[in-house]
This record gives sequence, C-alpha cells and structure tokens, in this order.
Amino acid sequence: MHIRNLKFVLLVLCFFGFDLILIAENSAGGHDPNWKVPASAAAKRNPLAKDPAAAKAGKLAFDRTCSACHGAKGDAGLAGASNLRSPAVQAQSDGALEWKITNGNFNKGMPSFNSIPEHQRWEIVRYIRTLKDSK
Ligand code: HEC
Repeated sequence: MHIRNLKFVLLVLCFFGFDLILIAENSAGGHDPNWKVPASAAAKRNPLAKDPAAAKAGKLAFDRTCSACHGAKGDAGLAGASNLRSPAVQAQSDGALEWKITNGNFNKGMPSFNSIPEHQRWEIVRYIRTLKDSK
C-alpha cells in the first residue's frame, strides 16, 4: 500500500514538473513547442526565395501588421509574442512560418492572417529571415 501511494505521488510530481517546464519555455520567448505544423505545409518552398525585392516589401507589411506585438525588430515579445529572431523560430522552414502566419494560434494570442494575400505572407517570411542577424 505504501509503495502504491509513493508511485502515485511520483506520478503527480512528474506531470506537475512537466507543466512547469512548459510554462517556463512559453514565458521565455512566447514560443509554443506544442504548436505543430503539418509536414506538407512545412515542406513548402518559398516561391519568392530568389526575389531580391521580397524582403523589403515584407518589411512594410510587417511594420504595419505584426510589429504591434512582435516589435519592429521582431523580438519585443509583447502579449506573449514569440521572439522571431530566436533560434527556435529561425530553425523552422519558410513553409512552417508561412503556415503559422496563415493559421495563427488563437488561444495563445497569435491571430490568423489568412486575409493577407499569400504572396505577401511569403514576403513577410523573407523579411523575418533578415531579422536573424540584424542588430
Ligand atoms: C496580437 C498580437 C500579435 C500580432 C499582431 C502578431 N502576432 Fe505573431 N504571435 C503572437 C503570439 C502571442 C505568438 C506566440 C503564439 C504561441 O505561443 O503559440 C506569435 C507567434 C508567431 C509566430 C510563430 C513563432 C514560433 O514561436 O514558432 C510567427 C511566425 C508569427 N507570430 C509571425 C507573425 C507575423 C508575420 C505577424 C504579422 C502578419 C504576426 N505574427 C502578428 C502575437 C501576435
């Protein structure tokens, strides 16, 4: 009986501890590791990958639509917004970022931007890439 109780306590601690780690990760950069992108979307290539004007156009849209939460440099993290310059974000594919922008994660505060034309979302992704190394 004692051993059973101990197992129960350990089980509860396990779950509770795991929650704490998730909360800590979320508050660190707003990045939600459980927000999964379908493989087919993540594999999509950016059709504007070779368009030199795309990032510049993306910056205009970003400043207008995204900077209120993500900040002008992408790292403000207002209202729990992810730091878009962080390795956790930059390691994701263009297709994954475009999918997240399109669908949002409403419960965590990221709106869905499927109203933005698709080519503009790819432009914004190009711009997010330039944030990686900028100061
Ligand atoms: C109302 C505030 C708000 C606005 C406006 C907003 N975001 Fe977000 N965004 C968030 C929040 C909050 C998260 C974190 C969601 C989460 O934890 O899952 C997020 C997450 C993201 C992510 C996922 C990053 C990751 O951690 O994987 C991307 C990409 C992103 N936003 C891009 C954009 C772009 C591009 C725009 C403009 C078109 C935009 N966001 C506008 C609040 C916002």
